[in-house]
Amino acid sequence: MNPVLELREGSLACEGVSLDTIAEAVGTPAYVYSSSAIRGQFERLDRALSGIPHRIHYSLKANANAAILRLVRSLGGGADVVSGGELYRALQGGFAPEDVVFGGVGKSARELAEAVEAGVRLINVESEAELRLLDGLACERKRKVPVGLRLNPEITVDSPHAYIRTGGKGHKFGIPWDEGLSAARLAASLPWLELAGLDMHVGSQLAELDAYERGLERVLGLLEAIRGEGISSVRYLDIGGGLAVPYEDEAPPDLRAYGRIVRDATRRTGLELLVEPGRFLVADAGSLLTRVLYRKRSGGREIAVTDAGMTELLRPSHYQAYHHIEPVRPRQRVTVRIDVVGPVCESGDFLALDREMPDIEAGDLLVVRTAGAYGYSMASNYNARPRAAEVLVDGDRYAVTTEREEYADLIRLERHALEWRTT
Ligand code: LLP
Repeated sequence: MNPVLELREGSLACEGVSLDTIAEAVGTPAYVYSSSAIRGQFERLDRALSGIPHRIHYSLKANANAAILRLVRSLGGGADVVSGGELYRALQGGFAPEDVVFGGVGKSARELAEAVEAGVRLINVESEAELRLLDGLACERKRKVPVGLRLNPEITVDSPHAYIRTGGKGHKFGIPWDEGLSAARLAASLPWLELAGLDMHVGSQLAELDAYERGLERVLGLLEAIRGEGISSVRYLDIGGGLAVPYEDEAPPDLRAYGRIVRDATRRTGLELLVEPGRFLVADAGSLLTRVLYRKRSGGREIAVTDAGMTELLRPSHYQAYHHIEPVRPRQRVTVRIDVVGPVCESGDFLALDREMPDIEAGDLLVVRTAGAYGYSMASNYNARPRAAEVLVDGDRYAVTTEREEYADLIRLERHALEWRTT
């Protein structure tokens, strides 16, 4: 494992740069990303898939920072996008359209048309209605479009929170299992579509790899049925994202076992494998820097109020997710049980509750670990809080990749002189 943060001269450092230095220079809150950690994860995954025809499509929803996109692209990765906005970001980030896979449960006609016009590698479709809509849009543009069917394999998986399970019966995602074959027939029969792939995504932060095995078994069964009907155009097997990262003391996923599962599936079918990792590539690489503003006691509880909260990292309050928090300068400190809470006017605004950790005081700089995925990408302006800066570290240098928002950004889209319209 690549230790993302190391103690150097009394302060935690990301690669060769002290977090203190970054906080002094760019202020807090700030997200700090290690390029070597992202590189390391990409290479680890690529190695686990060696010998298998595969493409790694980074899931932008985890973190669409342009510098990270450039890094992933330089490593040979593609992009997985779920909206017109993410498609725009991927293309702006330099991905060629054929390196983009477009998915999502509720793509609008406009978004589908944009994907058709761009000429993405694959559009993963989630219903028969969407297939028909896409066929019409492709016809208008005289473009034959490669589609994948996002199937709901309807298996129950073990992931830490109900909100990040996706492949169970009755979930909004994907084509319900018993409609898979008829959707395949429809896709194969529509003149402007080519049935090019089968796709599943069984969940995120998957605790057990057997979810892939069980999902694949079902999808490959369907592939057999599809081929049995003489439909032979399927060439991609897209198994989505979902690889877990350790947030606390969980074991990391066994990539060799993952490789074995997918190797077996691709060998049996002759398909090219597409994977859509998000969290796995960037979570551990990212740290959130925050300053303690106040310390207080209330009703017998110890409380530290920090300058970051749910607006910077929604995961603790939204999923009761654990993120390790520690002082950037670890002195001799007594251990306390403490609530680390944000400045937002919500009781649900916290980074950790009742956490046993070294005592902290006002002015301390803290680092919240494993914040590279679903941190900035889920950030909000609630309480009119400008979004924080993002910083990329590479060896002993660092660069601001996204400036901290200014107050003026908060009202940039508002009209002051209203143009009233009447019907
Ligand atoms: N592909 C599809 C179709 C997805 O729905 C997702 C994630 C991914 C790939 C990437 O999954 P990953 O490799 O990152 O697990 N905000 C939540 C996670 C939501 C994941 C949604 N879909 C969190 O902070 O835990």
